[in-house]
Amino acid sequence: MNVNGKPYRSIWLADDGWSVEIIDQTRLPHEFVTVRLTGLEDAADAIRNMQVRGAPLIGATAAYGVCLALHRNASNEALEEAGRTLLATRPTAINLHWAIQEMRSWLEPLSETERVRAAYQKAGEICDEDVQNNRAIGDHGVVLLEDIYQQRRTEDPLNILTHCNAGWLATVDWGTALAPIYLAHDRGMPLHVWVDETRPRNQGASLTAWELLQHGVPHTVIVDSTGGHLMQRGLVDCCITGCDRTTASGDVCNKIGTYLKALAARDNGVPFLVALPGPTIDWSITDGLRDIPIEQRDGREVSHIEGLSQDGTPQTLQLTPEGSPVANYAFDITPACLVTALITERGVCEASKEGLHGLYHDAGSS
Ligand code: MRU
Repeated sequence: MNVNGKPYRSIWLADDGWSVEIIDQTRLPHEFVTVRLTGLEDAADAIRNMQVRGAPLIGATAAYGVCLALHRNASNEALEEAGRTLLATRPTAINLHWAIQEMRSWLEPLSETERVRAAYQKAGEICDEDVQNNRAIGDHGVVLLEDIYQQRRTEDPLNILTHCNAGWLATVDWGTALAPIYLAHDRGMPLHVWVDETRPRNQGASLTAWELLQHGVPHTVIVDSTGGHLMQRGLVDCCITGCDRTTASGDVCNKIGTYLKALAARDNGVPFLVALPGPTIDWSITDGLRDIPIEQRDGREVSHIEGLSQDGTPQTLQLTPEGSPVANYAFDITPACLVTALITERGVCEASKEGLHGLYHDAGSS
């Protein structure tokens, strides 16, 4: 995607051929800053501190984290230690486990001299595959959007609600939930996106809004509690969100607040679509509520808020009274029964065991 007219991915190999560059997402939307990662700890910190975030990009960064570790030391112990360190960064997005497993099973049989080159090759492939997957999600999803647009029998813009950021910044490129939106917009469909701000980290207000603005997609940022009201008044034609982990039976784990949007969508007959690539499916579990670990983050993300002061300097402000306890659950589970359809790189399916297996006959190897 373009930033000020220049094409970018969210992660790339630096000109030196071994270090890795990322966009520091904690500085957006007010500053566009890139950061160079030169070691395993840099990659782990970038994931932990959410300079990179979003399930597919976390996986891609972990893959490059393994490369950076091996660039210093290509022993078996270093490979194991890299996996352990990266796995401990964030618990919920399954793409992290998937990418580390891909790297380990590719690299373990190789000798130390072969490993470094092979690691960079594999990490590059993981990134390229993510871009292809997301582009394919876009191609499948745009067909759904065109159907919904035509069924309404009006030329007014299609109103789509999204939560959190599942755009190109959450992936290597294109995004998951935003890929169909970008393609529909590029093809000339009149559309408008309601962007949930997505407290506490405000990925919607800061990242999704910034992406859509860069791409010229009409949008409006709303506070998280607005969606139900808009749906009751017929101002939302469909919801599309991304996903951090999907069970083999189609339960969806995504940013906190997603479940409430799905409930409101069901009550108002609004299609609730979830976009995800194959590596986001955890084939080993079937019950999202029971089996998916929900990250709890620092309470300071709830008690404080970051933004620009009137003179343009970054500021952190405290919202809550000193001494009030806070809780910061980062994700929730939307049961499969509330999801109208899953949009994957292999096509669109029902959120169910049968639906997913219909697309992924080779389940477990994707
Ligand atoms: O905590 P984050 O910002 O890493 O979470 C990302 C999300 O939950 C997004 O909603 C996204 O859909 C999942 S990845 C495309």
